[in-house]
Amino acid sequence: MISTIHRRTLCAVFAATASIGMGGCNRTEAPLKIGFLVKMPEQAWFTNEQKAAADLGKEAGFSVVSIGTPDGEKVLAAIDNLGAQGAQGFVICPPDVRLGPAIRARAKQYNMKFVTVDDRLVDGSGKPLEGIPHLGMSAFKIGNQVGQAIADEMKKRGWKPDEVGALRITDDQLPTAKQRTDGATETLLANGFKQGNIFDAPQRTTDDEGGFNAATPVLAQHPDIKKWVIYALNEETVLGGVRATEQLHIPAEEVIGVGINGAGEAFAEFQKQQPTGFYGTIAVSSTSHGRRSAKNLVDWIRAGKEPPADTPTAGKLMTRDDWRAVRAELGI
Ligand code: GLA
Repeated sequence: MISTIHRRTLCAVFAATASIGMGGCNRTEAPLKIGFLVKMPEQAWFTNEQKAAADLGKEAGFSVVSIGTPDGEKVLAAIDNLGAQGAQGFVICPPDVRLGPAIRARAKQYNMKFVTVDDRLVDGSGKPLEGIPHLGMSAFKIGNQVGQAIADEMKKRGWKPDEVGALRITDDQLPTAKQRTDGATETLLANGFKQGNIFDAPQRTTDDEGGFNAATPVLAQHPDIKKWVIYALNEETVLGGVRATEQLHIPAEEVIGVGINGAGEAFAEFQKQQPTGFYGTIAVSSTSHGRRSAKNLVDWIRAGKEPPADTPTAGKLMTRDDWRAVRAELGI
């Protein structure tokens, strides 16, 4: 191991002879600190991402300040807070994808770099905001996997398309949500699902409560439909939808809910003594999202290596039967 004094001497030599490789030298003077800001700090997905980033920090010599930022004001306050602590950048899953220009301006004040994870910032016309590296799931493809899992399970249960309703819980303002649910719809239709049996339930928040509140009135409007499939941008929302079916006394075996994430809430559901209407979830590694997005940012700060504009990630179906094995396989 090179001692601090040695490293300082090496740094002085580097400084005199070249302008490269200084990132590591600055690090000796002030340990690197980054922020990890998430829109819903109470969700298992996000806690796990933050923890994974902090764990990487311990291995790779940087510290992570985890902050919950459920609205725009909190995001700006968090950036001020990070600036005051001398942080050099942050990873963020923004509470609103239209906050990009405000976040960018505030980060610039402190000369901080930032990358997004999960929810990508958009410009005024809804296109991804340029110049901000992003890491997030391949939304449409993962939606296709949701649709396939539902279609396969319907066939296994011998359900006829005519008798089944689909509850599509949506947040069309959030591109990754729209792409995920559009992907699921496309695959369901390709498998013979009836377009007229798909009902939209717009959600206000992307959590259990948002799913429950969106689902309840739509289910109540269709008492004639006895069998339901449920899909949405994440498993929390689908679980909210499943709770709504329970409230209306729709039996668990008449419901096929398939989520996305593969985090604590799904694990808790799979461990319930009796199976519920929550059939499965497309698991994506939140551990890998946390580590890779933090690494992208840190490499950018330390070595000037700008991360790719978009790093898409993949997922795998996890059910009550195999969730432990899939969890281990994905390292969640
Ligand atoms: C969105 C959802 C989260 C999670 C992430 C994963 O932010 O709200 O629940 O699915 O995407 O990318």
